[in-house]
Amino acid sequence: MKSEFSRRKFLRQSAGAGLGLGLSHALARAAEPTPAASAAAKPAVAPTAWPVSDELDESALREVLRSGKWGRGNGRMVAEFEKAFAGRSGAAHCIATSCGTTALQTVLGALDIGPGDEVVMPPYTFVATFNAITANFALPVFADVDPRTFQIDAGKVAAALTADTRVLMPVHLGGAVADMDAINALARGRRLTVIEDACQAPLAEWRGRAVGTHGLAGCFSFQASKNLTSGEGGAVLTNDADLAARCLSFHDQGKIPTAPMPGRGSNYRLTEFQGALLLAQLTRFERQSKTRAENAAYLSQQLREIGGLAPVELHEGCTRSAWHLYMFRYEAARFAGLTRAKFVRALAKEGVPCSTGYTPLNATPHVQALATNRHYWKIYGEKTMKDWVARSQCPANDRLCGEAVWFTQNLLLGPRSDMDRLADVMRKIQRTAPELARA
Ligand SMILES: Cc1ncc(COP(=O)(O)O)c(C=O)c1O
Repeated sequence: MKSEFSRRKFLRQSAGAGLGLGLSHALARAAEPTPAASAAAKPAVAPTAWPVSDELDESALREVLRSGKWGRGNGRMVAEFEKAFAGRSGAAHCIATSCGTTALQTVLGALDIGPGDEVVMPPYTFVATFNAITANFALPVFADVDPRTFQIDAGKVAAALTADTRVLMPVHLGGAVADMDAINALARGRRLTVIEDACQAPLAEWRGRAVGTHGLAGCFSFQASKNLTSGEGGAVLTNDADLAARCLSFHDQGKIPTAPMPGRGSNYRLTEFQGALLLAQLTRFERQSKTRAENAAYLSQQLREIGGLAPVELHEGCTRSAWHLYMFRYEAARFAGLTRAKFVRALAKEGVPCSTGYTPLNATPHVQALATNRHYWKIYGEKTMKDWVARSQCPANDRLCGEAVWFTQNLLLGPRSDMDRLADVMRKIQRTAPELARA
């Protein structure tokens, strides 16, 4: 009796804690770092509850639970997921990891990137891209973005290269794809390695081929807010057999004898529970992706008609976006000078959950602290690190951070009538903008 009571109490407590933690984490990630709007009294649209699961997920988890094979190595789930994800992406190899950050760290570790090496990345991204680089004591170098596409500007990448550049790390932000033709051309000319941060873009495509297969490797996140999720999780894709062996070894404490790491490694393994969930989630993935893409295309058409709302532009080579985020730029001038803050507040009041997206990453205290990090002074010198602050200026990104508005991917999973309602709300805000601006 006593133990049953304790068990029930534990379940109640953990369900409550889980809900709180899960929601705050998912929101923090999806809207990082400036959530602007939540629900109003009568929501104009109700986003599909995320993540989606049913009996399939439950039975997959039960199978792992009952098998007693919970860790990678003695079960079938992680291995089957790796095969399935590689197969769908047209990649020769997949190594599942504990999260997207550790997927990036696995590749950087397997390539033995370290002190003195520069890695070029965009400032419009989640902080994890930066953290994976500094975890190796390499120097993150920001290359500004093109606000129209929200992606790294290849012209700015070219300008950021030095003799110490080792890696180009484009991020396929929001599920759209960075200009891989231009980035690969730059890399080829200088023998640089391209690692795609595809954490937000599973199965997006560049010229008909999945992301993660356009550089030497691509990294994915299966964190709770992502289009394909196991709560936490990640993966590396590569077509390079040698790198795959080194990644497998690195993510498993460097202990795989066929590809020993030079004194480096960690435990970045995915569990069988997560593998099982991902296999179940994959069964819905294509259907959900199709719905997101259809709704995004329709919504973009509506927004263009309204004017003053510029949907993310896909590069001509981006033949499929994952639509992890629906991103657009807001032009206050076309809304009677109504500020973006007031625009998103008005959206919230109408029951449209949205966010203003990232603030400039290079200006955050976390990133700026690198300039005075004692290890970085030892490795790069005080002057280089002081110059790094000036070198990190990205004015186009600053502008973009002031104009962007995001909807999360699950808002695109509803019926087309939801998109009509979203557009109606924005039309209404535009009509009433002069009063809203005065309020
Ligand atoms: C662009 C980008 N890179 C890396 C990551 C890190 O992934 P994770 O949270 O799974 O470690 C994320 C996750 O939000 C991301 O959006």
